[in-house]
Amino acid sequence: MPRIVLRDLSKRYGRGAAAVEHLDLDLPDGSFTAILGPSGCGKTTTLRMLAGLEVPTTGTVTVGERLFSSAADGIFVPPNDRHLGLVFQNYALWPHLSAARNVEFGLAVKKVGRVERRRRIGDVLDLLRVAHLADRLPAQLSGGEQQRVAIARALAPNPSLVLFDEPLSNLDAQLRLELSSELHRLHRELGMTAVLVTHDQAEAMAVATVLVVMRDGAVEQVGSPVEVYRAPATTHVAKFLGSPPMNLHPADGPLSSLRDAIAQGQGLEPGMADVVGVRPEHVLLDDARPGWRQRARARSVLSTGASALVHLVLDGGAELSAVVRGESDLEPDRVVEVTVEADRGHLFDREGRRLRPRGVPSALPTSPELFEEVLPWSR
Ligand SMILES: Nc1ncnc2c1ncn2[C@@H]1O[C@H](COP(=O)(O)OP(=O)(O)OP(=O)(O)O)[C@@H](O)[C@H]1O
Ligand SMILES: [Mg+2]
Repeated sequence: MPRIVLRDLSKRYGRGAAAVEHLDLDLPDGSFTAILGPSGCGKTTTLRMLAGLEVPTTGTVTVGERLFSSAADGIFVPPNDRHLGLVFQNYALWPHLSAARNVEFGLAVKKVGRVERRRRIGDVLDLLRVAHLADRLPAQLSGGEQQRVAIARALAPNPSLVLFDEPLSNLDAQLRLELSSELHRLHRELGMTAVLVTHDQAEAMAVATVLVVMRDGAVEQVGSPVEVYRAPATTHVAKFLGSPPMNLHPADGPLSSLRDAIAQGQGLEPGMADVVGVRPEHVLLDDARPGWRQRARARSVLSTGASALVHLVLDGGAELSAVVRGESDLEPDRVVEVTVEADRGHLFDREGRRLRPRGVPSALPTSPELFEEVLPWSR
């Protein structure tokens, strides 16, 4: 199984701005990578260069031992010779072929014998839990079932690498969640290497072992989903990951005492901080744990059953949102005491980059192993 290495990869369409610029990525063998980022940041373009559907303007694509493309050396392996499975948003099953025949189509092209073909079709349809639908035409299947067949079709030839581009975005929230966990299960059971492009952070967090956050054609951060969530490298990542989003405030405003508490607790230079951040679930209400404290008034309380979202106005005038687990008996206008533990806060500099303790490199690592080495303190 392959490790994926992208070096100095760029794509420029015509004379416009580059869709992807000087991208470096190193994805381990057997990883399930989710590429996450806002619309237009270059996710699909990156995946298409990996698949061989787009010729890179600069850089190299290497999968396992094979150099798939090198712009400088004029090397380009066409998509059919890359032995990849592809699943796209518009799954495009053949409308006149049954589910089983659609899966067979991928195998027939690869010249697999008849008996072996039958067995594999049965196996993958089973794996995707649509074996009972084998004889139906796509028009007789629901969206979620069609997408399962499309995934089965991509997996049937046993590709060494599977690429997904927003495979679940046509589906409703419930089905997306269900298929996300299916993808997670498939990854574990088959040990496949996979890359999934999405702009749905919940989907990315649910399936990925490696999370890549992109912005403006470049990699903003790489790490395990938990690492990226716990220690976002920039304010963009901080805002993009998390729902409701992280509270971010000017560090020299009414929350300057919070900045100082975080800086002291984490060994950071408070004077370097421009933005102070705290995730809503780390804004504690009437809690005995030690930390920075301030009085606040609850402005609104929105309960969703499993948790409640509380909007607070602090004594100094700053506003914070808090998420409280379980049923909350908090009423609007009640006065509460807010606590933030110093190691739960985030400080960012004027460029929006996370402040790091002295001695820790500020360059953003592009491989997960490297990330683990330089960020032991983030745990
Ligand atoms: N064939 C093309 N010709 C010209 N420009 C293109 C082409 N394909 C993509 N682009 C541009 O490249 C940039 C990146 O596009 P890309 O499709 O990779 O974004 P994305 O991250 O997948 O976005 P989305 O989440 O909306 O799918 C965009 O500005 C887009 O307009
Ligand atoms: Mg896209």
